[in-house]
Amino acid sequence: MTISANKPASTSTKAAIKPRRMQFDTKNMQMHQFAIEDNSLISTFFYALSAMFPEGERFFIHSVRHYQKSISDPAMTADIKGFIGQEAHHGRCHDDLNEAIERLGIPMSLVTDNMDKRINMLKTRLGPERQLALTVAMEHFTASLAEFLLENPEVFDQAPEVLRQMLLWHAVEEIEHKAVAFDIYRLKVNKEWMRRRVMVIAMITLFSRIAFFQMRMLWKTKHMPSLKEWAGATRFFWGKKGILRANVKGVRKFFQRDFHPNDIDQSALIDGWEKRYPEIAAQEA
Ligand SMILES: [Fe+2]
Ligand SMILES: [Fe+2]
Repeated sequence: MTISANKPASTSTKAAIKPRRMQFDTKNMQMHQFAIEDNSLISTFFYALSAMFPEGERFFIHSVRHYQKSISDPAMTADIKGFIGQEAHHGRCHDDLNEAIERLGIPMSLVTDNMDKRINMLKTRLGPERQLALTVAMEHFTASLAEFLLENPEVFDQAPEVLRQMLLWHAVEEIEHKAVAFDIYRLKVNKEWMRRRVMVIAMITLFSRIAFFQMRMLWKTKHMPSLKEWAGATRFFWGKKGILRANVKGVRKFFQRDFHPNDIDQSALIDGWEKRYPEIAAQEA
């Protein structure tokens, strides 16, 4: 099934997509091995995500660039430029963060090397339409995750300030550009069955890989999570305000008929964020 590519992209107010050149001081970051919520299972979840981001985000840019020249609409062209600028900078900042985490003995390069090979495989095996569908799926996942983090910023209360600031800034920009790949997909590909099917495969693959990378990180650091950590992690992921419980809800919306990312109004989370987080806004170069 396809739906009209002329359908308006959104009925809600659209935030401008502005790449910000942030400079986080990861070099002098003081941090203990499992600093997020003081829990190895929760910390390695975010470490695995951070290690997957740089190559993943460069892949998103690659999939969008394939269509960039064939788009003449000035608003979309500006959005694509903003999207590429933001994702490129996210990748660089996470590279720095990943190096800092690696210094703690967490095998981040194991994940980045694995991602490098996998992304090269995806670029050769998947055609441009499927590559873009995968980006659309992952962009929806990251926007749902961003919504959770901006609604629950206390998740990073025990984490180093640099890590907290970087992930919250990343969350803001993920929401700002959440519809860019989707709008290109609707205009150029517009296959609803492919969009949904790729999301199912993407989520199964993503979560099994995160779990695998977490196991490798715990193995390498010779850390056996305690019962207290398991209980805390179960609450954190699947409890009433659990991150994965919220994410399942968010991802489910993607399967609705005629879904568009801007149908979910997350503007309150990003409008005026610089005033709510002046210490993060101050990191812009
Ligand atoms: Fe990003
Ligand atoms: Fe993104």
